[in-house]
Amino acid sequence: MSDAHDTCTILGIETSCDETSAAVVVDGRDVRSNLVSSQVKLHEKYGGVVPEIAARAHIEQVRPIVEDALAQAGVGYDDIDAIAVTQGPGLVGSLLIGVTAAKVLTLTHDKPLVPVDHIEAHATSAALVSDEPPWPAVALVVSGGHTSLYLVRDFLDIELMGQTTDDAAGEAFDKVASILELGYPGGPPIDRCARDGNPAAFRFPRAWIKKPHFDFSFSGLKTAVLYHVYGVGRKYGSVAHLSASQIADIAASFQAALVDVLVTKTIAAARRASVANVVIGGGVAANTGLRASLQRACDDAGLRLHLTPMKYCTDNAAMIAALGYHAFRAGRTADLWLEPRGGLVRPPRTTGPAPKRNTR
Ligand code: KG4
Ligand code: ZN
Repeated sequence: MSDAHDTCTILGIETSCDETSAAVVVDGRDVRSNLVSSQVKLHEKYGGVVPEIAARAHIEQVRPIVEDALAQAGVGYDDIDAIAVTQGPGLVGSLLIGVTAAKVLTLTHDKPLVPVDHIEAHATSAALVSDEPPWPAVALVVSGGHTSLYLVRDFLDIELMGQTTDDAAGEAFDKVASILELGYPGGPPIDRCARDGNPAAFRFPRAWIKKPHFDFSFSGLKTAVLYHVYGVGRKYGSVAHLSASQIADIAASFQAALVDVLVTKTIAAARRASVANVVIGGGVAANTGLRASLQRACDDAGLRLHLTPMKYCTDNAAMIAALGYHAFRAGRTADLWLEPRGGLVRPPRTTGPAPKRNTR
């Protein structure tokens, strides 16, 4: 492709939520640069991502971060074979900035434009660090915006097995941290706090854990914590009536319930799909309880768990460029009519029976 060694260099751009990221990846594996500008500080005081603020920050960040990613990789536009960009899902205002930037760059520098699905990029990011692509595998993608199980047969052959029907796992962490006044984002402080607590102190609900489908529901778990803290029917208040050890017990019991559901369903999905590999992606994959519990369960079930390093678990453009490489090689390019795709598009279920709704 770009030089005598037939290498293929992709510039990736990711702006689906609150991280502006650009990366240069060669042959879908060799990460030459992967820069991420986080907006956590901008959204902290609101306790969640504010879409308008996120979009505005992307506008400011996208151009410099692309230039820095190219500079750090030591390449110019002449060395780039194609530009891959996150098309969705995500916040539509945020996606629009990345898609527009990618379109302008492809037009200005006469490069092919490659749209990439953000969650499929999370599902395949483990291949960035494995010796051989770990497919076929079941991929658990758990972040602030997504909780999904995929059967990854190959980079471009990915089937959705199930996903959350309400809150994402990270969203549940963030909301429970807000209830317990532990700060934002909520995953890291709950993770820390849970280490000092008793995970069996309270039995919080584990929705659909034994159901023969792979969908998730975490809104009942979050409400159970809310009612446990303030009493049934009450709204948020202060947690001054709780001691540090009571808060630790609630955090540990909440985390145990959520991790139990994720791990049980992931192992069941791997069995249903008859695969030997499990991969994990998304910010919640940083959770020490989830990592340890999934590792134990995979060992017991004779499955190989591929734990992706954190820099490729959280939102990053390297995973976009990496999957973009395979899409580009397969001719999956787009023209300038490409539009961002905000919401989750749910493809028809092809694995397992349809779930019964509103049952625990
Ligand atoms: O993938 P990510 O960086 O951004 C997207 O949402 O796409 O994930 C962020 C989410 C937040 O909800 C955050 O609370 C959660 O990942 N998170 C964690 C941990 N670190 C980050 N959740 C549980 N335990 C952690 N250690
Ligand atoms: Zn993500």
